[in-house]
Amino acid sequence: MIVKKTKNNIRKVISEWKKRGLSVGFVPTMGFFHQGHLSLMKESLKRTDKTVVSIFVNPTQFGPNEDFNTYPRDIERDLALAESTGVHAVFVPDVQEMYPSPSKTWVEVEGLTKHLCGRSRPGHFRGVATVVTKLFNIIQPDVAVFGEKDFQQLQVIRQMVRDLDFPIKIVGAPIFREKDGLAMSSRNTYLSDDERKSSLCLFNALKRARELISKNEVKDAAELVSALEDFIGKYPFTRIDYIFVGDPETLEPATHIKRPLLVALAVYVGKTRLIDNMVIH
Ligand code: PAF
Repeated sequence: MIVKKTKNNIRKVISEWKKRGLSVGFVPTMGFFHQGHLSLMKESLKRTDKTVVSIFVNPTQFGPNEDFNTYPRDIERDLALAESTGVHAVFVPDVQEMYPSPSKTWVEVEGLTKHLCGRSRPGHFRGVATVVTKLFNIIQPDVAVFGEKDFQQLQVIRQMVRDLDFPIKIVGAPIFREKDGLAMSSRNTYLSDDERKSSLCLFNALKRARELISKNEVKDAAELVSALEDFIGKYPFTRIDYIFVGDPETLEPATHIKRPLLVALAVYVGKTRLIDNMVIH
């Protein structure tokens, strides 16, 4: 597996592949891999001749009081896992390489970023869209794979690719869960044993939402949100950041229960903010 730290060096590798007519898949990540990341890599490997993974904890998508400094990192372990999955190249730039001087140009996707994480993490999606644009320009992939756990991020990237005419096919890969249902996330490592038990409130609340809808037990979105608030509130150490019920395409909140319906949650368990979602058909 090829490992490159600079834009120039990874570009040389990829342009050699392109000269040979090979297709390139790309999985952007912030590292500290779990099975969810590996499933994105496998998806890319299935679809293209060569797969490139980037590992970069992007400072511009973290707010001033967020966990940029403490975000878990283990490059050696990540490289071993990527190699064992069959990835062809990994791009591991440092902050200086990606942002040699403070950015004066930003990519901002409007509308889709108004609610959910866009509301509680101002500037987050501007940082994501900007770094993904830079990575797309460096790697120039044919296909890029993103996880559906970050549902809003996936929709923002799809919109950005359409609006800015990137010739890249965006693929969404299903949420990868632990045996008990907790969506895999690098941030799960922050949880104490007791918090880990409470973290099940997210997936259990989504299943409860599906049940309430399928049995017609809630008359509208407000009633669904309030039922989920009560449900999550019963778990210790939890504080709801948001419960969103709305349209999976426009990410606008719904008043009525109409399908498909996106139910998305962000909940603090102790100090750890976890997200999860389900599209109910
Ligand atoms: O989903 C992530 O890990 C990040 O937001 C991404 C897409 C790698 C951009 O930094």
